[in-house]
Amino acid sequence: MSVLITGGAGFIGSHTCVELLQAGEEIVVVDNFVNSKPAAVEAVKTITGKDFPFYEVDLLDEEGLERVFSENQIDCVIHFAGLKAVGESVQQPLRYYHNNLTGSLILCRVMERHGCKRMVFSSSATVYGNPHTVPITEDFPLSTTNPYGSTKLMLERIFGDLCVPDPEWSVTLLRYFNPIGAHESGLIGEDPNGIPNNLMPYICQVAAGKLDHLNVFGNDYPTHDGTGVRDYIHVVDLAKGHCNAVRYARQHTGCDAINLGTGKGYSVLDIVHAFETATGVKVPYEIAPRRAGDIPTCYADPSKAKRVLGWEAKYGLEDMCRSAWNYIQKKQEREGKERRSED
Ligand code: UD1
Repeated sequence: MSVLITGGAGFIGSHTCVELLQAGEEIVVVDNFVNSKPAAVEAVKTITGKDFPFYEVDLLDEEGLERVFSENQIDCVIHFAGLKAVGESVQQPLRYYHNNLTGSLILCRVMERHGCKRMVFSSSATVYGNPHTVPITEDFPLSTTNPYGSTKLMLERIFGDLCVPDPEWSVTLLRYFNPIGAHESGLIGEDPNGIPNNLMPYICQVAAGKLDHLNVFGNDYPTHDGTGVRDYIHVVDLAKGHCNAVRYARQHTGCDAINLGTGKGYSVLDIVHAFETATGVKVPYEIAPRRAGDIPTCYADPSKAKRVLGWEAKYGLEDMCRSAWNYIQKKQEREGKERRSED
């Protein structure tokens, strides 16, 4: 039996493929490369020394998905595929709702047709909106502030509803906090196209000299230094959490939401300083106005993940910064070599 990973060429998806293969799972990967590259699939094979079926298929393509399920024995799906840029989702709501919701509905329909009723879903702490207090437990009230977040929350509800009439369905909603860092090989990591929206990719581009300085969005929040506090989690820890979630999904039915975070909150300036200490590279920054929609503080109570999945985060902040920077440096070396060989 194989685990199907939708969006397996993406940042979290590719790291999860590595951890699943190293845990002895068989995998099948689907991605449409809308926000990822074939090189990530090759890198997963290089890191693990293992091969697996890959399909360049969009979840909106029901026939394509049908073929994936017909040609493989799939008993569980980890569903990462989806558009994920908050600002873009505000500008293009229909594209976000169509892609993320319709794609997922088609996926569920094909799963049901093939008797595959286990799903581990890539949700987000964004479903907690602006939490009234921290740390955040899974029973906090849910709300969203943008279409991207709304697609996550709507999908949580849709997958939850699947479990009501059919006791065979098993859905594990993994609510991620802020994943950063990269695999130690430097072969996979996060490097979005264009100017990054998220903090760590932005810091890496400043460190690499591609951007002049970091804008720190607000220093008047009610936090220890006035800058926003988040629960940053190493993507390899997060990926390992998915291996535990697959094992859990095989033993349980019904719908369960679980936070994947470290339980520790760090401010933007904490991250800047940790990055400088871990890498020895200076990150010039300027204080800028608050970013619309940002909340002051967000960090997890990760005790349910420990209790239910037997999982907890192991890596510290400096590991996260060092590995993120290692990926960017190695990527630049690879691109430099490619350019020289083309000349
Ligand atoms: C964002 C999304 C969240 C999504 C997550 C995915 C918003 C409002 N939320 O979370 O829905 O699930 O990414 O990883 O976009 N910051 C700066 N300068 C920058 C970039 C960020 O100061 O150039 C600050 C932010 O104000 C925030 C912190 O860094 O305090 C983290 O920001 P970011 O990495 O974008 O993540 P979130 O906003 O927490």
